[in-house]
Amino acid sequence: MNDKPRWSEKYRFGIAEIDRQHQQLFEIFWELHTAIGEGSDLEQVSSCFDRLNQYVTTHFAYEEELMTQYAFPQLAAHRQQHADIGDDLQALLSIYAETEEPEVKLGIPRKVAEFLEEWLEEHINRSDRQYAHHLLACGLS
Ligand SMILES: [Fe+2]
Ligand SMILES: [Fe+2]
Repeated sequence: MNDKPRWSEKYRFGIAEIDRQHQQLFEIFWELHTAIGEGSDLEQVSSCFDRLNQYVTTHFAYEEELMTQYAFPQLAAHRQQHADIGDDLQALLSIYAETEEPEVKLGIPRKVAEFLEEWLEEHINRSDRQYAHHLLACGLS
């Protein structure tokens, strides 16, 4: 993983708070990459995981609240995607927290980074974009 993913204009929807939150997610992702690149400093990785976990939960709740408020027709499917992402992330973080095996412990941050990369690209760029269109059509900015 040499290319650290950065937030770019292609992820901007024009909804200020959502764009800010997505940028924040990329920031945490960037920090995780840095921690891995610096030889998996486990303390730094653990701190990234804690913030990631909290931020993802907050972000999903915020999106679901907005989609509810603006009656987004695909809310149920989107909520399910959030639940699946949350479960997968939780499973990885639990292994990381509980394992005593150094090799497993060192491998998890990379798995989380790969998982996040896919999520940022697939979920934000496709699924989030769909609700953003709906919200923008409702006049939100
Ligand atoms: Fe999102
Ligand atoms: Fe989402």
